[in-house]
Amino acid sequence: MTMNHEKEVIADTGGLSRRDVLKGGTALGVLSVAGFGTQSLAQAAVPSLPMAFRTEVEVAFRINGAQTALALDPRSSLLDVLRDQLGLTGAKKGCDHGQCGACTVHVDGRRVAACMTLAVQVDDLDVTTIEGLAEGDVLHPMQQAFIDHDALQCGYCTPGQIMAGVACVREGHAGSPQQIREYMSGNLCRCGAYPGIVAAIEDAARVMEG
Ligand code: FES
Ligand code: FES
Repeated sequence: MTMNHEKEVIADTGGLSRRDVLKGGTALGVLSVAGFGTQSLAQAAVPSLPMAFRTEVEVAFRINGAQTALALDPRSSLLDVLRDQLGLTGAKKGCDHGQCGACTVHVDGRRVAACMTLAVQVDDLDVTTIEGLAEGDVLHPMQQAFIDHDALQCGYCTPGQIMAGVACVREGHAGSPQQIREYMSGNLCRCGAYPGIVAAIEDAARVMEG
C-alpha cells in the first residue's frame, strides 16, 4: 500500500489509519502496555457490593511478552481485564457471548474468545493480543495480507479476524479457501469482507509456512 493510498483509507474514526487499526484498534491500545497498574475501570464499576463481600484475587500472567500481576474481581472476563485494566482495546467487545469472534486473542498460542474466558483462567499463561503481533514497526504477515487484500471495511471485526487467522494457519487449517471458511466460521464480519479475509489468510499462510 502506498503512502497516498494509506492516507486515502483513513477511516472516519478519529483519523486512525488502517495501519493503526491493524496494529491494535487505537493508538491507546498500542501504547497501553505502559499503562499497567493504573486504576481499574472494571473495579471502579463494581462498587455496589458491601465491603465484606468484596474479594479480589491475585493473577499473574504474561501479556504480549511482558509479565504483569493484577488484583482482580474473580468474575472478570479476560476481555474486560484487557480492555479496562490493561488498556489493550484491540480485542473488541461485539456480542460478549462467544458468538462473534471480535474478542479473539491467543492464550498459550491457542485462540480463545476473551469474553468467555475468566481472567483467573490465564494465571501463569501467555496471552497475546493484536497489539503484540507486530515486531516493532514490522507488521505480522497476517496484518500485511489484510492490508494487501483490503480485507476490511469498518475494521471492528478485524483484530479478531487477524488473531483467528494466525491461529488458523498455525493449526494447519488454511489448506484451501473452503477449509479457511470452515475454521474461520466463528469470526463474523457484518461488513461482509469475507472474500478479502479468505484471500488474506491464504496469502499469509504462504508467507508463514514458507
Ligand atoms: S465479543 Fe467475544 S465472541 Fe463476541
Ligand atoms: S470489517 Fe466491518 S465488521 Fe468486519
